[in-house]
Amino acid sequence: MSRFILIASGKGGVGKTTTAVNLATAMHSMDEDVTLVDVNFTTPNVGIHLGAPVVPITLNHVLSGRAEIADAIYEHESGIKVIPSSISISELKKLEESNLSSIVKDLNHISDTVLLDSAAGLGSEAMTSMSIADDVVIVTNPEMPAVTDALKTAKIAEELGKNVLGVIVTRTNGSKSEMSLKSIKEMLEIPILGVIPEDDCVKEALAMRNAVFLTHPYSKAAVSYGEIAGKILGKRFEAPKRSFFARVFGL
Ligand SMILES: Nc1ncnc2c1ncn2[C@@H]1O[C@H](COP(=O)(O)OP(=O)(O)OP(=O)(O)O)[C@@H](O)[C@H]1O
Ligand SMILES: [Mg+2]
Repeated sequence: MSRFILIASGKGGVGKTTTAVNLATAMHSMDEDVTLVDVNFTTPNVGIHLGAPVVPITLNHVLSGRAEIADAIYEHESGIKVIPSSISISELKKLEESNLSSIVKDLNHISDTVLLDSAAGLGSEAMTSMSIADDVVIVTNPEMPAVTDALKTAKIAEELGKNVLGVIVTRTNGSKSEMSLKSIKEMLEIPILGVIPEDDCVKEALAMRNAVFLTHPYSKAAVSYGEIAGKILGKRFEAPKRSFFARVFGL
């Protein structure tokens, strides 16, 4: 049986897809068999983050019974398996998202760990993907509106009997105006799995259309994602070490 981990948020644009692609690549580097599924049907972004070409068969085809799940799995250069959603508007109109639960048994044979990159909020597509998750990881920025919305998502997940693993606080910059980790933890009443600082390397990785964990392995964001992935899997993450010369010359 696979472990289905949903990467969710209340507010949009907080860093879910960035988190999903980096946790997937970090987990793979720790010898975990991982599949990343884009369940953000209306605005799928995994392909953009990973530089995937437009593919002929997507999750939409599987959900509408026009393809088997095996036909919608693509291997990324990193070694992770990816099941993309369609970016086409006509495919979106044909979408049968409620069929997601009926393909879980097929997804179960694909990988030990299945990461689901959710849509934001608590609309029907986010709720459908939450319904198939075992564990939920909440992503938020350290700002009151994002944390307030994260609280709703965490509470709904708990009410549905999901195992909320904790929250990842992304894009922290240490400014006085942002919420402290202590306040975020007190408000959400769930563990803080890790903190990802605001990091230009993440933006550079997006421009390179790859995970920062792979493009900038020494960056703070990459190391933090590696540590969080290790925590989720119960494995030890060894951060790569830079040589003396690389450190001195900023290589
Ligand atoms: N730690 C970070 N440092 C700098 N930029 C970041 C960081 N994390 C995410 N970003 C940027 O924030 C933007 C939104 O990220 P992302 O697409 O992962 O959010 P999302 O929660 O998946 O959005 P949506 O709700 O629309 O699916 C992207 O441009 C991404 O590069
Ligand atoms: Mg996203």
